[in-house]
Amino acid sequence: MIKKAEFVMSNSQVAKCPKDRLPEYAFIGRSNVGKSSLINMLTNCKNLAKTSGRPGKTQLINHFKIDDRWFLVDLPGYGYARVSKATKQVFQRFIDKVITDYFEQREQLVSAFVLVDIRHEPQKIDVEFMQWLGERAIPFAIIFTKADKLKPQAIERNVAAYKEALLEWWEEFPPYFVTSAQNKTGKEELTQYIEQTNQTIING
Ligand code: GTP
Ligand code: MG
Repeated sequence: MIKKAEFVMSNSQVAKCPKDRLPEYAFIGRSNVGKSSLINMLTNCKNLAKTSGRPGKTQLINHFKIDDRWFLVDLPGYGYARVSKATKQVFQRFIDKVITDYFEQREQLVSAFVLVDIRHEPQKIDVEFMQWLGERAIPFAIIFTKADKLKPQAIERNVAAYKEALLEWWEEFPPYFVTSAQNKTGKEELTQYIEQTNQTIING
């Protein structure tokens, strides 16, 4: 259970992120998938991370300190403006650089969580991003979001289809979680997973 969550800082440069040597977990995925909403759900705070119905809300690296012991990081979404206007493309390139710099340079990062909408089949950009993480040996888990939008049977079916598709590229499916920020589905599982991982780090 998370007892305390506080916003620490927002910035676009990895070098300026908090210097604390605390374990860190980052939420990443396409814009609008529900990264910020999930952080609010996990921390029991309505507006800790800013959310919006329109994609592109989170534009910086946001650090949240949890129980004085670890960080949750909210990142901007990748890939949303690729096909739109030129100015938007320039902006998305800036965002993509913020994201890649973060994952390539942040030594405190323990694991990424790649969020995907449970309603969709694997999207090229998500699969490519997971491959990019894999090539850099950055551990990640998958978080399916918006599970409240589907009935239990459809959830099972879609998770199975996602697994099958990814296993065409990989030998193993990473740890995964089915969540809903709206219904608080997956809250305990995800919190426990992070706290257990923290324990493993502390115990070596
Ligand atoms: P960016 O910051 O733009 O990259 O988006 P984000 O991934 O942080 O998404 P955000 O949390 O802002 O949520 C986007 C939209 O999805 C909002 O309208 C949320 O209310 C909605 N949403 C997020 N999580 C859920 C969920 O579990 N269920 C439902 N039904 N809607 C959700
Ligand atoms: Mg956001």
